[in-house]
Amino acid sequence: MSGYAVTVEPMSPDPLPRSALANLWRIRSYVRPYVGQMVTMVAVSALGVGATIVIPLITRAVVDGPVKRGDVRGIVLLAALALAFGAGEAGMFFVRRWVQSTVAAGLENQIRNDLYAHLQRLPLEFHDQVQTGQLVSRATSDLSTIRRFLSFGLIFLIVNVATYLTVAGLLIQLYWPLGVLVAAGAGPLAIITRRFEARFIRVSRRIQDQQGDVATIVEESAVGVRAIKSFGRRRHVARTFEVAARQLHDDSLERARVVARFWPLFDIVPNALLAAVLLVGALAVGSGALTVGGLVAFVSLTLMLIWPVGSLGWLLATGQEAATAADRLYEVLDTKPSIVDRPGAADVPDTEGHLRIEGVGFGYPGTGEPVLHDVTLDVAPGETVALVGVTGSGKTTLTALVPRLYDVTAGRITLDGRDVRDFTLSSLRRLVSTAFEDPTLFSASVRENLTLGRPDASDEQVSEALRIAQAEFAYDLPWGLDTRIGEQGLSLSGGQRQRLALARAVLGRPRVLVLDDPLSALDVHTEALVEEALRRVLAGTTALLVVHRPSTVALADRVALLQDGTITAVGTHSELMATVPAYRAVLSATADEEEVPAR
Ligand SMILES: Nc1ncnc2c1ncn2[C@@H]1O[C@H](COP(=O)(O)OP(=O)(O)OP(=O)(O)O)[C@@H](O)[C@H]1O
Ligand SMILES: [Mg+2]
Repeated sequence: MSGYAVTVEPMSPDPLPRSALANLWRIRSYVRPYVGQMVTMVAVSALGVGATIVIPLITRAVVDGPVKRGDVRGIVLLAALALAFGAGEAGMFFVRRWVQSTVAAGLENQIRNDLYAHLQRLPLEFHDQVQTGQLVSRATSDLSTIRRFLSFGLIFLIVNVATYLTVAGLLIQLYWPLGVLVAAGAGPLAIITRRFEARFIRVSRRIQDQQGDVATIVEESAVGVRAIKSFGRRRHVARTFEVAARQLHDDSLERARVVARFWPLFDIVPNALLAAVLLVGALAVGSGALTVGGLVAFVSLTLMLIWPVGSLGWLLATGQEAATAADRLYEVLDTKPSIVDRPGAADVPDTEGHLRIEGVGFGYPGTGEPVLHDVTLDVAPGETVALVGVTGSGKTTLTALVPRLYDVTAGRITLDGRDVRDFTLSSLRRLVSTAFEDPTLFSASVRENLTLGRPDASDEQVSEALRIAQAEFAYDLPWGLDTRIGEQGLSLSGGQRQRLALARAVLGRPRVLVLDDPLSALDVHTEALVEEALRRVLAGTTALLVVHRPSTVALADRVALLQDGTITAVGTHSELMATVPAYRAVLSATADEEEVPAR
């Protein structure tokens, strides 16, 4: 498969591209509005840590001064001071949490909105190739990962490194041989970090991809639950899921193993330092190089390094997870929408609706043979042309090219002589109204579904469209047009859904109508009624109508036969019946049973 980077092989074993960290760095454009808050968080956290650092220094003053002299007043005063610093630290903690929640929520919201808007801009071609679950997991779990890092991991990474540097500096001042010893602890830490990073980032990317795969399976089996149950595939689907979930489970365990192998090392370093400090410090006190208070302060300060250094592994892990999440995010955001307004594109002017398909060729990206080649068809203003062809001949594909759901790869499609690519997409799609084979409805009210393309439609227009599509049943739903229809319209019958989709297409009497087999799910009686009503709409509209049944062919002025991706015959139904055996063959299955009115 060519094309999109997002189609990740679930088990890509290659080392993580260096791009992950680069992509994490790109997130800064989202952080920019929050720089003030981020700096506040770092400052506040640093102040909090500062307060804790001061406490051992006060301790030293207490031990070496008042304690030695037995000065109770001094002790009380210093204790009060220590208490004040403790309270200050608590206050800082509160402020940080508070700022943090605003930043986190704001950041995540902004990125998610951009991602969603971008997904809407990306062409069908993209969505054909990328699994829905991968998109869902990017919009949810990857974004939370990034949010967690930016609002927490990053802050503490900065604060902890700063704490380490400050404490090491203080220790050097207090008694330099010991200070240098503690500072030297950074060496082993750096080595551990590097080794940890490489392994962790690889397995975490794999896990994030697998989460997308699992989400895809859940999504597909929820949407396809009807088919799964009726084909008795419950066990099979459950097994597929189990395999994916097991893979995720195994890799999560591997991540835990990597973590288990490295995190203790992050913990050992400060504890080893503490042991060394105690040993060397005791000797120094013995030889008089260090006061007892000095040693107490020294030990307290070294103890203070246990959390910042010990948590380093964990913080780095959140950073690496955020980096892989950023990588996955930018894979989507970096995909350029291929179908966009050309520079200088204009709104469609008042058009007659003269549709011409001129030598059009089209192949789906990443597939071999083109689906369509050398297709030429002229649909006069107000004329209705039926497209007939065996299944897989390219009828749906051809209709999708008119509103630019895909762009032609050869030739051109024109409206009143102008290439459709010279018009703005929004005006083109307002002008060309469509209904597809599988009528897609949304979990929204009937009215919202009907006015999808024309939010400004009046009540009269809506009722006219419903009448034409024989979809007046909508008024009898429990809450009339305000009835919410379930996800994908599943609470309606197939024929009801198809009629609503048809009503949506004819709403507001579009100049150009593209209908892909719009009557397939209707019973013979309803079909006859819809046909009757459609005939009136089609009278004033340029229409391309994919048709399977001979009875519907009667709606068309002319018929075009599509064979192997190209149009091989055009004429009236009776002409083609009389002269083109292939046309007869396509329609014959039903032609024997149905009376076809000749035109
Ligand atoms: N999104 C897609 N990506 C890749 N190939 C596709 C895609 N959609 C359709 N095709 C291929 O293009 C060819 C034409 O498909 P199309 O849907 O246009 O046929 P059709 O004439 O509408 O058939 P039917 O009568 O069954 O609806 C088929 O071989 C199909 O496999
Ligand atoms: Mg089709």
